Amino acid sequence: MTTPQIEAFFDEPTNTVSYLVADPIQGVAAVIDPVLDFDLASGDADNRSAERILAHAEEQGWRIEMVLETHAHADHLSAAPFIKAKTGAWIGIGAHIRDVQRIFRPVFAMTDLKTDGSDFDRLFEDGERFAIGNLSVEVMHVPGHTPADLAYRIGDAVFVGDTLFMPDYGTARADFPGGDARTLYRSIHRLLTLPDETRLFMCHDYKAPGRDDYRWQSTVGEQRRASVHVHEGVSEEDFVAMREARDAGLAVPKLLLPSIQVNVRAGRFPAAEANGVSYLRIPVKLRTA
Ligand SMILES: [Fe+2]
Repeated sequence: MTTPQIEAFFDEPTNTVSYLVADPIQGVAAVIDPVLDFDLASGDADNRSAERILAHAEEQGWRIEMVLETHAHADHLSAAPFIKAKTGAWIGIGAHIRDVQRIFRPVFAMTDLKTDGSDFDRLFEDGERFAIGNLSVEVMHVPGHTPADLAYRIGDAVFVGDTLFMPDYGTARADFPGGDARTLYRSIHRLLTLPDETRLFMCHDYKAPGRDDYRWQSTVGEQRRASVHVHEGVSEEDFVAMREARDAGLAVPKLLLPSIQVNVRAGRFPAAEANGVSYLRIPVKLRTA
């Protein structure tokens, strides 16, 4: 069987890892979770980060055929439309993105947002398979962080999205609308039943306390032995209590509001207004004492 060739691209402003996964024999590649460079203060966006991924693929002679989102991210905007425009790649995400669209449509009064997932090119169900060249990809539905999270399993490598982080940092939050700590625990345990040597590729890294470098690769065995949140012996009840207590103290991600509005549209900005400019919305709530 062909071994996937995997290149990681770390985006420090959003702590996100994007991946280029290729069948080097066939010269076919997928991009997982590409990041749009976005400045919230000015509204300026550019595609520097995605350009780096495209340049690498070109150097290697790989044709990018698909962009795979692990979920609708809340901490960065997706560069999927740029990669699609440059390469003709299709964009795939979990079929439960429809639930996420239904949840957030009223939050932002996005009356033009379709909630049938049709902004994406492919919607995946649990257990579905597709191919990157001769590499077989198995889709795993791993909800909890959001209802639509997927992990992509390719040979002995799994791109886990926002489920697990590095063992010394733990797990993803489960307090966004539609998130659920108990569901996340069960999804993580599904991943941790894979063989010990399975390589796990994280979607984020935040440098755990005491660590001075970014890391994004571990194994099932390492997570089972050493994950600070879900090592062997942590019960579902313990995890849920820990996760909910921890989430209650977490800050709102800096790019949450723009990310959600753009990522539920497969990374596209809302349609431009009459002046030719596209706008994102901020719901404002005046708190009274
Ligand atoms: Fe996320």
